Amino acid sequence: MRADVQFLPRKVSAKGAGGKVFVVIDALRATTTIIEALSNGCAEVIPVVTVDEAFDLAKKSSREDTLIGGERGGFKVDGFDLGNSPREYRREIVLGKKVILTTTDGTKAFHWVGACEHVLVGAFTNARAVVQRCIALGADPVMVPAGKKGKFSLEDTVCGGMMIDLLEKMGVGLTDAARAAGTLYKAFHNDLLEMARISEHGQNLIQRGFEEDLGFCVQTNVSSLVPVFREGSVSLD
Ligand code: MLT
Repeated sequence: MRADVQFLPRKVSAKGAGGKVFVVIDALRATTTIIEALSNGCAEVIPVVTVDEAFDLAKKSSREDTLIGGERGGFKVDGFDLGNSPREYRREIVLGKKVILTTTDGTKAFHWVGACEHVLVGAFTNARAVVQRCIALGADPVMVPAGKKGKFSLEDTVCGGMMIDLLEKMGVGLTDAARAAGTLYKAFHNDLLEMARISEHGQNLIQRGFEEDLGFCVQTNVSSLVPVFREGSVSLD
């Protein structure tokens, strides 16, 4: 088994995915939000790329059972029920509901790996559980940081690096990219909140009034849930 990290966002074909398990990571904030929603009893999350797609899909769904969530520029979109703060996805709001979610980068990342058989949802909050699931699947783990508008993102790569660190301790081999992400994690592991605060996206979120989300998103291993993306939908297995 050999673990890898995709430093930059790119599409993966089904052909290139054999024997691999992909872990989509948008630690600030989309994948943390998805994990939180499902922890609070949300039935499923449908990640879509555009705001129009979200409204179109909602029109075809029963509005009683469906919420539309996500952001553009960090803020809730006009007409949506929820934004992209994991703290909004409370049990009394999401229990039993389907959430259609669109975010700037995180929900797009699911579509890069949409053709692959094994796609998991990862964040700091469920890192250990994700690693255990990768080991159980016996497939080569590939961390997929969502990045920032096609570019490298510090917080997603550090989160992937945390998973790599755990995999390395379990004796899993590493590609050079995985080793680099693991080293980055080790540089920041004593103060993940500070890492989130200095990251470009963390700075944007602080400026927009979402500083509390940073602390929420860097909680480590507080969830044992590993959501799975399959046929366009994220749910618990
Ligand atoms: C994204 O998907 O680009 C982020 O989750 C944006 C955000 O933090 O709202």
